[in-house]
Amino acid sequence: MRLKGGHEEINYDATQAFFNNRAGKYNKDNPYSVTMYQDNHPELVKQRNAKEVEKLLPLLKLDNKSKVLDIACGIGRWSDAITMDIDKYCGIDFCEDFILKARELNKDKKNRHFYTGKSNEISDCLAKNNWEDKFNRVLLIGALVYLNDQDVDSVFAGIGQAVEDKGIVVIREPIGLEERLTLKEHFSEELDDTYNAIYRTRDEIMDCLNKSLLKQGFRVKEEAFLFDDSLNNRKETSQYYFILER
Ligand SMILES: C[S@@+](CC[C@H](N)C(=O)[O-])C[C@H]1O[C@@H](n2cnc3c(N)ncnc32)[C@H](O)[C@@H]1O
Repeated sequence: MRLKGGHEEINYDATQAFFNNRAGKYNKDNPYSVTMYQDNHPELVKQRNAKEVEKLLPLLKLDNKSKVLDIACGIGRWSDAITMDIDKYCGIDFCEDFILKARELNKDKKNRHFYTGKSNEISDCLAKNNWEDKFNRVLLIGALVYLNDQDVDSVFAGIGQAVEDKGIVVIREPIGLEERLTLKEHFSEELDDTYNAIYRTRDEIMDCLNKSLLKQGFRVKEEAFLFDDSLNNRKETSQYYFILER
């Protein structure tokens, strides 16, 4: 089903099965396509990854005191992007095969930790892994699109609990350009699989932020579309980012 405008919940078991399947398609020559798709366009994957990192990495203002939480980290694409000396990085994802791959790829780096857990249950995941520190940088990259509305609220509540007094939160999401778009049990020719996702509008994401992190002292420092037309090949959706600071 392809629903424009209306509200329909998606099923997480289907999404988990989808990502388990993606993990099976890991290809070391085009590693990031497991979470960036475009399996047949390795150059586009490279260009989009490079553009995203070039644009967003400086906005994270990382230094050796940075404690980074990467929610829905996949195989640790952003751990790879962070080449400077930071205090800690913790990536959480519900796809165990991604977490195993991320650990293998990061085994020689110090202070990189990867745990299996749900985006909407961050506190539980950290507690289960005896994680005591708070974070001062949070990455939420391509994560909200796989969650129903009440769980988007839980993610922001979890971030609120996980951050220190001062911090930067980077949100990068594909948004619905004119209206919300829901794909429910939708067969995608491109992905050769059934896909479930909710592309919220920029205003819907702002509404969620207004009732959560912005009430807790965070401010939107910057927001914009991530790619120009040359890197965006969709008509109804586009990658958008928000930088929040407190
Ligand atoms: C589009 S990928 C982005 C991955 C990574 N942030 C990146 O930018 O490369 C979405 C990720 O969200 C994870 N995911 C989806 N739903 C999740 C959930 N409910 N809890 C935790 N992880 C989830 C998937 O396993 C996948 O790794």
